[in-house]
Amino acid sequence: MIVWCLMAVVAATEISAGNLPSFISPCSASDPNLNECIQKVIEVVAPKFADGIAELGIAPLDPVQLGTVEVNNPALKITFTDTVVTGLRGSKINSYKINLDKGKATIDFTANVTLKAHYVMDGQVLILPIRGNGPAKIKITNLRIVVTYDFTTVAGHWVLTGYKDHYKMDRAQFKFNNLFGGNKELAQTTEKFTNQNWEIIMQEIAPPALNQIISSCVEKVKQLFGAVPATELLRP
Ligand SMILES: *[C@@H]1O[C@H](CO)[C@@H](O)[C@H](O)[C@H]1NC(C)=O
Repeated sequence: MIVWCLMAVVAATEISAGNLPSFISPCSASDPNLNECIQKVIEVVAPKFADGIAELGIAPLDPVQLGTVEVNNPALKITFTDTVVTGLRGSKINSYKINLDKGKATIDFTANVTLKAHYVMDGQVLILPIRGNGPAKIKITNLRIVVTYDFTTVAGHWVLTGYKDHYKMDRAQFKFNNLFGGNKELAQTTEKFTNQNWEIIMQEIAPPALNQIISSCVEKVKQLFGAVPATELLRP
């Protein structure tokens, strides 16, 4: 009987010890500098998310595949397919705040990201017609994302119940290959124009693209919460 109990304890210990990857050293909920402590943990964990955490079944976040991203403005239709985003690995965490009583936390981070895809575009920007299809590349400098998420504890695990996000960026640069079926002169003028007016174009592209980038990040956090009990992520 005693042997069975011991075996059960050993088994339980192994399972729980196996949940938390060794690179996560959890903070204590009673830490007076809890926000700063968790921010440091995230700074260590973020690059691991970039590579993916195989032991927890978490796929890589850099590169992250977004699939199809559609801009459906009546004046400008763009479809990006096989969309791949790189650069989240280099994210800098600006701040982290958690309110355990309210079950709310906010993470604020900045990254330089590049989106590559195949594009099909038809429409106009301001009064200039724009049309093409081929490889596209969009570089976003200092993309700052702030996500506030709500969580509760269910069966010992944090469950993310909802989130809100805001973002802004310093600049976006476009490279749309094969504009106007390869008409070089038109393409050059148009490319110059799109880069000068990047804000107008990003107003259309950013909402669908960033929703998908942010929801990919949120998905990884959900997977982490599902794989590791709350008391291992944050010691009571
Ligand atoms: C993004 O790139 C710019 C310019 O190259 C640089 O000044 C900035 O520090 C970078 N931001 C991040 C979050 O790495």
